[in-house]
Amino acid sequence: MAGTVRVELCAGKALAAALPALARLRIRVFRDWPYLYDGSEAYETEYLQTYLNANGAVVAVAWDGATPVGASTCLPLTEADAAVRAPFAARGCDLAAFFYFGESVLLPAYRGQGIGVRFFALREAAAAAWPGVRFTAFCAVQRPPDHPSRPADAADLTGFWTHRGYTKRPDLTCQMRWRDVGAAQESDKTLVFWLHSLNGDPLP
Ligand SMILES: CC(C)(COP(=O)(O)OP(=O)(O)OC[C@H]1O[C@@H](n2cnc3c(N)ncnc32)[C@H](O)[C@@H]1OP(=O)(O)O)[C@@H](O)C(=O)NCCC(=O)NCCS
Repeated sequence: MAGTVRVELCAGKALAAALPALARLRIRVFRDWPYLYDGSEAYETEYLQTYLNANGAVVAVAWDGATPVGASTCLPLTEADAAVRAPFAARGCDLAAFFYFGESVLLPAYRGQGIGVRFFALREAAAAAWPGVRFTAFCAVQRPPDHPSRPADAADLTGFWTHRGYTKRPDLTCQMRWRDVGAAQESDKTLVFWLHSLNGDPLP
C-alpha cells in the first residue's frame, strides 16, 4: 500500500548501498513503453558508475517496509555524463547553474498517490541547496507517434511535468544508446530536455 511508503534521501555510502535496488527498478520500469529498455546488469553497472563518482549525487528511494518500490536520482550537471552535458555546453549555458535529474522509476502499483511529486520536491530541495544552482533539468525519450510498440493507452507525463513547473525544450536534446526489448543491438535514442527555474530566473 502506498500509504505506508516512506521516501528517503540517500547520499554517499547510503547511495552506493541503494544502487542495486535502483538498477533492479530501472530494469523493471524502463522495460515498459516508452523506454523499452532491455536492461542488463552490465549496462547498469556502467551507467550507475556516474552516481558513485559524482560529487553531490542524491537518490531518493521509496520504501514499502523493507522493499524499495521506487527511486529517483539527481546530481550537479557538471558531474553528469558527457552526452547529457553536451547540449548545454553547445548552447553556451553555465553548467554550474544546473542540477540534472537522472530518472524516476516507481512500480506501477504505487503510482498516482503523490510519490512522484515527492521525488520532484526532494530533488529540487537538493538542487537548491547546491551552491550556484538555479535551474533543474531532466530529459525524456522521444518515440515516433506511429511506433509499433506504442500502447493505445500509453501514459502521457506532459501534464505531470507541466504541473511541476517544467518547460519542454525541443531545442535541447541529447543522444543515448540502449537495446530495445526484442532488438538484436543497441540503437541511438533522442531525449528532449525539460527545464525549471528554482528561483524565477528566466530559463536560458
Ligand atoms: C513518473 C512517475 C515516477 C510519477 O510517479 P507518480 O507517483 O505516479 O506521480 P504522482 O502520484 O506523484 O503524481 C501524479 C498525479 O497524482 C496527483 N496526486 C495523487 N495523489 C497525490 C498525493 N497524495 N499527493 C500529491 N499528489 C498526488 C499528483 O498531483 C499528480 O497530478 P498532477 O500532475 O495533476 O499534479 C511514474 O509514473 C513512473 O515511474 N513512470 C514510469 C517511468 C517514467 O516514465 N519516468 C519518468 C522519466 S525518467
